Formats: sequence, C-alpha cells, structure tokens
Amino acid sequence: MTLKIAVSKGRVYEDFLSLLKSSGYRFKDEKTRKLVIKDLDNSINLIIVKAIDVPLYVNNAFADLGIVGKDIIDEFDDLFYELLNLEIGVCDLCIASMKNSKIKEMDYLKIATKYPKQANEYLKFKKLNGEVIKLNGSVELGPLINISDCILDIVETGNTLKENGLEVNEHFKKIYSKVIANKVSYKTKTDIITEFINKIS
Ligand code: PRP
Repeated sequence: MTLKIAVSKGRVYEDFLSLLKSSGYRFKDEKTRKLVIKDLDNSINLIIVKAIDVPLYVNNAFADLGIVGKDIIDEFDDLFYELLNLEIGVCDLCIASMKNSKIKEMDYLKIATKYPKQANEYLKFKKLNGEVIKLNGSVELGPLINISDCILDIVETGNTLKENGLEVNEHFKKIYSKVIANKVSYKTKTDIITEFINKIS
C-alpha cells in the first residue's frame, strides 16, 4: 500500500525531501518540476501543492498525510489529526510595520495578511479594534503603499522586511511544519502511517 503525502512546495518541500532521504527513503536524484514524486520502493507518493491547499488535500482524502506549516494549519478548523511536529520550516509569525511607526499607540489597527483568522485572533487577544485586509502574497506592500498600518506575516531571515523598510513589532507565535493526517486514512492505513512516523521521527 502506498502512502499519499501532500507537501507544501518550496522551502518546506526541499527540507522534507532531505529528511526522507536521511530516514532511509530512496529517490532518483534529479532536479525536476514533477508534481508527483514516488520513492524508488513505491512506498510513498509525494504530491507537491501550494501550502494553502495542503489541508484541502488532506480533508478531502486526496492525500493521506500532509506536510505543512502551523501558520496554515491554524487558518483551518481541525478536520484532520496533527500527528508530529517537524524541525523544518521554522520561522516566526510576527506583527511588523514601517520603521518608527507608532502602531503601539494606535487604538484602531489595520492589518494586511495572508492569515485573516489569526489576525482577527490577534486583535481579540490584544483587545484592539481594527480590520483585517486579506492579501495572497507580497503582504509587505500593505504599510508600504498605505493600505494598512501593519502586517501579520511569517519572518524567516528578515530580509524581506529589511529591504522594504519594515521592522518586527511583536512576535505572535513560533511556526514549524507538522505532519497532519486524514481521519479516515489514519484508521484504514494505521500500520503504514505508524511505520512512516516512526521512520522520520
Ligand atoms: C514569505 C513571507 C515574507 C517572506 C519572509 O513570503 O510572506 O514575504 O517569505 O521571508 P524572509 O524573512 O526570509 O525574507 P513568500 O516567499 O512565501 O512569498 P509570498 O509573498 O508570495 O507569499
């Protein structure tokens, strides 16, 4: 039986592939734009998708497992199991604004973000009035072209903020990748899922 795993493309995929290789899974070494990648023993199929689609693949059983960041997971209501934390895709979810802006003194805060659910949680947690502007990328533009006071976004190296004249105001939460599982697959493929989790742990 083959395990279908939806993996978020980009940085997480690269690190996850290294983890699989060091855990004993064997792959043909080639640079490729393939979207389905099988290991040489055909025990796992990796399905390469956009991060935001990983929970959708898992919830609809298009994949048994998913590899995706906690930033994405927390935008969804839990229809899946969270099985394991991975030391990959580690970064911070932060509030950031233009350097020297006084957002701490504002009592109405406009937040541009890819993460509307968590931005609303942030406003609630801080007991602040405000509004959330949902963008799908290049979120730093929010304060740059004056459509928001700040952003809620992931910061890894900090280069994107720096190059655009922004700075971190507050660390909201630590982000890392997790293995999530479709609830039915977890029951019907318990043995191979357990074997997989043990191998990569
Ligand atoms: C993410 C994030 C920041 C950037 C942070 O964007 O939204 O823009 O990475 O990384 P850094 O701290 O290392 O600079 P991503 O590259 O995923 O592209 P996007 O803007 O299209 O979402």
